[in-house]
Amino acid sequence: MPNLKQLEVSRQGYGAMGLSSVYGAADDAESTRTLHRAIDLGINFFDTATGYGAGHNETLLGRALADKRKQLVIASKFTHRQGGADAPVLSPRQAVEASLKRFSFDFIDLYYLHRVDLQIPIEESVGELGKLKDEGKIGGVGVSEASADQIRRANATYPLTALQSEYSLWTRGVEAEILPTVRELGIGFVSYSPLGRGFLAGSEVIDPNDRRHQHPRFKPDAIAANSRRRETIEKVAAKLGANIGQISIAWVLSKDVVPIPGTRFIPHLESNWAANDIQLDAASIAELEDVFAIGTTVGERYPEDGLRMVPREPVNA
Ligand SMILES: NC(=O)c1ccc[n+]([C@@H]2O[C@H](COP(=O)([O-])OP(=O)(O)OC[C@H]3O[C@@H](n4cnc5c(N)ncnc54)[C@H](OP(=O)(O)O)[C@@H]3O)[C@@H](O)[C@H]2O)c1
Repeated sequence: MPNLKQLEVSRQGYGAMGLSSVYGAADDAESTRTLHRAIDLGINFFDTATGYGAGHNETLLGRALADKRKQLVIASKFTHRQGGADAPVLSPRQAVEASLKRFSFDFIDLYYLHRVDLQIPIEESVGELGKLKDEGKIGGVGVSEASADQIRRANATYPLTALQSEYSLWTRGVEAEILPTVRELGIGFVSYSPLGRGFLAGSEVIDPNDRRHQHPRFKPDAIAANSRRRETIEKVAAKLGANIGQISIAWVLSKDVVPIPGTRFIPHLESNWAANDIQLDAASIAELEDVFAIGTTVGERYPEDGLRMVPREPVNA
């Protein structure tokens, strides 16, 4: 079982963002069945955030997971300015209190700073989260999408349990500086969007309200260019009798980090979990990494306003 400091988590966690209709419409009853199936499969690590569905996601998880609460590791995240740059500043304490209320829990296992605020030093944010851990309101302090320098500064202020950042075959920028830094400091690494927001599992973007329409990598030209490279995943998948989503997750698992793929549906969940049994040989890993070399994905990973809040991924497009 991977270990995020004192938190024992399953090899894969479950990312709940899509249960708040971010990537196409979600239905709470179906989502609840999917969450319960995740527990049955052996998943104990659930990821949400205050911003997913403006609180809907935390409320849904609080309800669906309450019966098994004690055996689970539940993580959430907050930003100081929830409604965008002009929103009033929210303190970590206010954020944690509001999350606890939505969950109807008295404790959150891991609480992240979702984005480093452009005006509040990371030491201040993490120092406040550290106080909440010392008081027993949260079990670990995390940061998401911090740079190597910010991670060092944060960890010197209060020992971090985990960094959560985007990491998948088509988003490998963390390998340069960020992964080596968390390994050196003994901080756990949680890989979000391990399926490339569905692209690396062959998911189609159909719903007009799907947020991926705003992402440069999901514009038609980028899809066309990146799809050609996806054929290499298909080739490896055919060789191993797996599907491409499983190969994409197996590649992330081969890096000894904890992926948190998201899905609304039980069949996808079961398929993703089965990636735990796939052993990628060195030749397949080399073939995949050659085609998905750092900086070769066409299109930035966020729209312009989102890009200002994350370390820059090298890009050729
Ligand atoms: N820290 C951050 O800033 C941040 C940012 C983004 C995400 N996250 C976290 O990371 C989690 C996962 O990331 P993500 O949801 O962005 O992307 P992801 O896990 O890479 O991909 C999710 C997408 O893939 C589809 N999918 C999943 N399994 C599939 C399968 N077996 N076959 C076909 N399609 C499949 C899902 O659609 P279906 O529902 O149709 O299966 C969904 O559209 C989130 O839920 C969230 O908790 C964190």
